[in-house]
Amino acid sequence: MELRLLMGEHLRKLRESAGRYDGTARHSLEMEQVVGDYSAFVTDARHHESWAALAREGSPDFARLVAELRSQSARCAAIMEKYRALNLLDGRTESAGYFDNIESGIEVEFGAFRLTSSSKVLLVGSGSFPMTPLYIAARTGAGVVGVDIDAEAVELGQRVVKTLGHGLDIRLERMSVEDLAFTGEATHIIFSSTVAVKYALLDAIHSSTRDDVVVVMRYGDHLKSLFNYPMEEVDHRKWTLVEQVLRPEHIFDVALYVKV
Ligand SMILES: C[S@@+](CC[C@H](N)C(=O)[O-])C[C@H]1O[C@@H](n2cnc3c(N)ncnc32)[C@H](O)[C@@H]1O
Repeated sequence: MELRLLMGEHLRKLRESAGRYDGTARHSLEMEQVVGDYSAFVTDARHHESWAALAREGSPDFARLVAELRSQSARCAAIMEKYRALNLLDGRTESAGYFDNIESGIEVEFGAFRLTSSSKVLLVGSGSFPMTPLYIAARTGAGVVGVDIDAEAVELGQRVVKTLGHGLDIRLERMSVEDLAFTGEATHIIFSSTVAVKYALLDAIHSSTRDDVVVVMRYGDHLKSLFNYPMEEVDHRKWTLVEQVLRPEHIFDVALYVKV
């Protein structure tokens, strides 16, 4: 099927699936299927040529379709985490390709900037199932603070951490990264890929962060920008791109920045 038609079909399914969320895990299996199919779609190298042709054409309709897919899939990714949290908290545990994909990628994300037990990590967009904080705190012993703008995500996330992260140094807050005191202490700041304003936030926090801070920006370009907010230019007086970790089979790639 033509790429644009496939995109339209995925958009319809993502919208429908997101619209069914009612605060329970009733529709979680259906959402897993829809997001699993979509993840496979955005990492399928066979679509690269058609994508490049459509992107070159640059029609406004195509740009609108891309923007809509990006925001609906971000919404679905957040709901997937709610389902995963609810299933865990209700005693049902489930796994989906989407999560395996993210979890297996966390280790390589830091490139040359390894974490140690004295690292202080801030995650912007911690979600309802804070797998990144859990993984980092368990693996390295580092202290992790996560922030999220969604009150339900913070509340579910705290309960998940209580259940799975016993004894780990993890704190979750519903607060803007700009107002958080920990932003000035963090040695590593990770931006979730589906945070739409991540580059604006990066710019805004520059003056309140440590001189030696390392920023781990999750993003997706080209076809992957259908499930991620893409890379943007940074203010070259503030931030320098030092490394890119490209992972063709993964949902998102990673760009590492340090202060100029
Ligand atoms: C899919 S989830 C978390 C991603 C995943 N847990 C990870 O480790 O990459 C993305 C979260 O970002 C949150 N979010 C979106 N915009 C945000 C912002 N401006 N500040 C903080 N959190 C934000 C959403 O509410 C959502 O819970």
